[in-house]
Amino acid sequence: MAATWLNDAVFYEIYPQSFFDTNGDGIGDIPGMTAKLDYVKSLGCNALWINPCFDSPFKDAGYDVRDYKKVAPRYGTNEDLVHFFEEAHKRGIRVLLDLVPCHTSEEHPWFRESSKEEPNEYSDRFIWTNSCWEHPEDIPFVGGEAPRDGCYILSFFKCQPALNFGFGTPKAPWQQQAGSAHTLETREAIWDVMRFWLEKGCDGFRVDMAGALVKNDTPDRAYTQEVYKDFRQRLDAQFPEAALVAEWNTPEQALNCGFDMDFYLSWAGNGYSHLMRNYPVIGQEGPEGGDSSYFKADTDADPLPFLAEYLPTYLKTRGKGLWCFITCNHDTVRPRFNLSPEELKLAYSLIFTMPGAPFLYYGDEIGMRYRKLPNKEGGFNRTGSRSPMQWTNGENLGFSQGKAEDLYLPVDPAPGAPTVEAQESDPDSLLNYTRRLIALRHSQPELQARSPFLPYFAEPGNRLLAYKRGTLLCAVNPGREALTLNLDGKYRLLFSQGDAALTDDTLTLRGFAVLAPL
Ligand code: GLC
Ligand code: CA
Repeated sequence: MAATWLNDAVFYEIYPQSFFDTNGDGIGDIPGMTAKLDYVKSLGCNALWINPCFDSPFKDAGYDVRDYKKVAPRYGTNEDLVHFFEEAHKRGIRVLLDLVPCHTSEEHPWFRESSKEEPNEYSDRFIWTNSCWEHPEDIPFVGGEAPRDGCYILSFFKCQPALNFGFGTPKAPWQQQAGSAHTLETREAIWDVMRFWLEKGCDGFRVDMAGALVKNDTPDRAYTQEVYKDFRQRLDAQFPEAALVAEWNTPEQALNCGFDMDFYLSWAGNGYSHLMRNYPVIGQEGPEGGDSSYFKADTDADPLPFLAEYLPTYLKTRGKGLWCFITCNHDTVRPRFNLSPEELKLAYSLIFTMPGAPFLYYGDEIGMRYRKLPNKEGGFNRTGSRSPMQWTNGENLGFSQGKAEDLYLPVDPAPGAPTVEAQESDPDSLLNYTRRLIALRHSQPELQARSPFLPYFAEPGNRLLAYKRGTLLCAVNPGREALTLNLDGKYRLLFSQGDAALTDDTLTLRGFAVLAPL
């Protein structure tokens, strides 16, 4: 059962600590997200994904959860979050929370109990070897830290011990078979967290590291899939409109086991990074030349490496769920790092007219910069994409009334740093262009999530990409030279950016255009 509301969903991702601070402590908070719901609505976004906002020591920005059922005090209270759900729903906005099922914080009470020498109810909630001298092969682990005589395996950073969902093929006595008794207890514990927040009014979850639940799984992750099939059955019975989006980037697997959506993530060398982020080094001052991203105006890249990856996977998974484009996320270098606002307009044109449900990362609508910032809360090179939202031209760019030195991260000090305030009044701003694109998508059912996609024109060495969405024809040419496309029928211009000239049987384009049949 897929949540029906997804067909016209446009998501906005909020990194709560950097969105809007209402009490002057320098950290964004839940009342701040509530205060900005009208802004989210003004973008045309009707769904949200909120990065983890739960109690945590914040060694990985909240992906190290200490209490799944408690909002982190720095963000507010559970009541604030429930109020936020209500206010979002009043505006027709759904809210996905971030579910982190693969690991907890090392400070979670389950892990504290599991670390004790005396066996107890939580001894098997995490994955331990049988002695501190027994070291797992090929899996990162920690030994000698706990009273318990064993090593525990890690899921991500050292602060994130792996929850025990078992092994596909156990290879040592301490490795439990996925689906055996203790692994089912872990599953119940995570379901209990999901039910807790769904009953309080959230609309589903983005699931962190979704494909990594079961260790040494089969190549198609059959045992991990089995867990989500079970969750999906329970959701269908109790919360049929709840939606799940996976951080998996393998839609053949994620959409097969009950996820409504999977992300198309920017992985080095993949089709999506060919479009947006095809430069050699990340985390430096700027791409030092060598940027051959398709959406760079001055490259000669054609769209074929993107299509060669996208199309087969799209064809295999269409009808099963949504494979979703993102402008960026909290782990990825912001697209403004290498693309100018004019180039971003064309990149977003594609993102908001493709199948799936698009995800807009906060601040990308104004082209916030990626900045080289010192590591904050385990962000490392990701920190530069997590800086405070730039609302106004005033103090702290409107993010907080606190002191500049108390802010979670410094706001962008660049003169003329983009802000919502400055772009609101400029009809040609990236902000207003993004709004027009999202409005176009809402107004055209054929541009929405499940409407069919078919490439119409792509050729080696040619900058132009054209594709059909239903009967609509979308075309993008990110290069500087106008190019001509032969048309298969009579069309009218429905939407355009840049120069688009239509004759009876050709479109000459530099920029982006959507044509509707006459
Ligand atoms: C995911 C999150 C990332 C986090 C990691 C560990 O990749 O997006 O921010 O650090 O999982 O939970
Ligand atoms: Ca605050």
